Amino acid sequence: MKKQYKRILITAALPYANGKIHLGHLAGAYLPADIYARYQRAKKREVVFICGSDEHGVPITITAENEKTTPQKVVDRYHELNKRTFEKFGMSFDNYSRTSLPLHHQTAQEFFLKMYNAGILIEKKEKQLYDEKVKMFLPDRYVEGTCPKCGAEDARGDQCEKCGTYLSPNELINPRSKITGETPIVKETSHWYFPLGKYQKRLQDYIKEKNEEDGWRENVLKYCQTWFNEGLQDRAVTRDLQWGVPVPIKGYENKVLYVWFEAVLGYISSTKEWSIKQNHQKWRDFWLSEDTKYVAFIGKDNVVFHCIVFPAMLMAWNDNSEDKYVLPTNVPANEFLNLEGQKFSKSRGWGLYVDEFLEKYPADSLRYALTLNLPEMRDSDFYWSDFQARHNNELANTLGNFVNRTLTFVYKNYTGKIPTPGTFSDLDQNFINDLNLAPDKIGNLIDNYRFREAAVEMMNLARSANKYFNDAEPWKTLKESPEKCNTTIYLCLNAVKALAILFEPVLPFTTKKIKTMLNMTDEYYWNNASELNLKPGEPIGKIEILFNKIEIINMESETSQEKSDSSKPAQEANKKPTITIEDFKKLDLKVAKVIECEKVTKSEKLLKLKVKVGDEIRQLVAGIAQHYQPQDLLGKNIIVVANLQKATIMGVESHGMMLAASDQNGNLVYITTSTDIEDGSIVK
Ligand code: MF3
Ligand code: ZN
Repeated sequence: MKKQYKRILITAALPYANGKIHLGHLAGAYLPADIYARYQRAKKREVVFICGSDEHGVPITITAENEKTTPQKVVDRYHELNKRTFEKFGMSFDNYSRTSLPLHHQTAQEFFLKMYNAGILIEKKEKQLYDEKVKMFLPDRYVEGTCPKCGAEDARGDQCEKCGTYLSPNELINPRSKITGETPIVKETSHWYFPLGKYQKRLQDYIKEKNEEDGWRENVLKYCQTWFNEGLQDRAVTRDLQWGVPVPIKGYENKVLYVWFEAVLGYISSTKEWSIKQNHQKWRDFWLSEDTKYVAFIGKDNVVFHCIVFPAMLMAWNDNSEDKYVLPTNVPANEFLNLEGQKFSKSRGWGLYVDEFLEKYPADSLRYALTLNLPEMRDSDFYWSDFQARHNNELANTLGNFVNRTLTFVYKNYTGKIPTPGTFSDLDQNFINDLNLAPDKIGNLIDNYRFREAAVEMMNLARSANKYFNDAEPWKTLKESPEKCNTTIYLCLNAVKALAILFEPVLPFTTKKIKTMLNMTDEYYWNNASELNLKPGEPIGKIEILFNKIEIINMESETSQEKSDSSKPAQEANKKPTITIEDFKKLDLKVAKVIECEKVTKSEKLLKLKVKVGDEIRQLVAGIAQHYQPQDLLGKNIIVVANLQKATIMGVESHGMMLAASDQNGNLVYITTSTDIEDGSIVK
């Protein structure tokens, strides 16, 4: 049965401050969390939405070493960058904190001490690899060696990337320290363990109960079940490292809390920070109350920490304190988003970074396209062509068009004032019915974490509004029966208002514009979204175009262009308008020399070229990998359009276009100079 809660605590996984946010992160946790939070606020429910940077962990120290800088500098950089990116994407966090803050260190140490003093933790001695040169124990990822399974020579201490086997550093053949390259020795160390196994039964009951109450995702239940089937084991909560939250007990001065043990507590310290900034104690109302619904949004790789480790930690605390923390009511974890059919991969350079994306395209368009592709049940894909189509056909042609034609009509024919409706025809009444059903239909989907379907319903309402406008033909009734026209436009204006409210969780920037265009106040909210409550006679605001069409240069269009060009007879592909010499002069054609050339990873069609154009070195991407090997082009002269707008093709920047012609078989032949003239020469 659904329980009635007083307030909702929403958290989104704290991203590592060790890299930039990419589209996969957004689709995994952040966008669904934001839609959920915005919707709950629109229902006028009491909400706090919490996130922040996860600033500890071994990858951060490795990055710092590679870049010859300090971990603090690394996290400072990525914290600011990611915080700003999230703002540009429209994330509505109430607080975005960071785990390197003293407040977080205190909170985490308090948790550790509570368990330590209650005698819950167990100390164990163990043998670990130690680098004598730098006098330090080597965490898993600081060791490299030969994989005992497949013989790969560069297996990591935690996993062999080649064959996928999970390893412990002691299993590696010929282990090497990643810091010094030396062979580490085996040395004894001690660590504190949390006895997770003791909580297994309670955890299983807890998940069962919450699932019955709030309907957990199948995939999440399945992951948990796998862990339960294997039997939960003791887990070390300390590490031999310098960077992190110091272990607050004697003899552990050189150790820190394990990053996962403290990172999840970042939700609590971030909420505390919010309270301090706002000068209230509300963090207690949210965290220390049975009346709180707590929803933790994450990606699937975080399931064990949020459904098993974190709840067990909270149970351990609650058993030993007056203050009792709320456990997650639900953990709606998403699967992974892939890009054009391939997994995002930092090491392979395959991905789309959000900050770069938003320099070119509007945040709302990305939010919309991603929402309709969220990996809610299984992995899904981001395709450029889908993004473009969603933006152009749905946002611009359906939603944008409906809002624009309605408001323009009001300006043209009603001097910008809301008309007074007459009686309702069947056509009107049918549309009113659609309108009335929408808020609950969409709201229930969001309450049940079905964001894709919710977005489909939002756009369905815009479609039905557009159809109503067409069927009612106000441009005809304006003269023939003005009262009908008034009614139509009044209903359309109310539909614009409803769309501004109902689309807000997905399109915060666009709906804000619509609200301004209608002079809407906060009195209009989710629960009265479908009421016909606009006041006749009131003026509307200035009209703004909501979406401009997007033309994208990308792998899809590159490849499809290539195909259509070569399949068309020459004359037809050539049918282009006559241009003047002035038009031609706009092209900056130059001779360039190819100085580097390689294949674009995971692309069959693309080569990445470095070319020298006079004193300038340029990178460009060309769809000729099926016609040339990289070495065929080295040292050759090519002709480039040097003043073509920069583009990112399959995640690789391309600055300029290489000229080529296709022969009768569709083979591409690059254009060159008849003698080896100097690069940078102008082609005219
Ligand atoms: N930093 C982790 C990741 O990006 C997630 C941490 S969630 C937390 O996968 F709750 F532990 F902070
Ligand atoms: Zn292997």
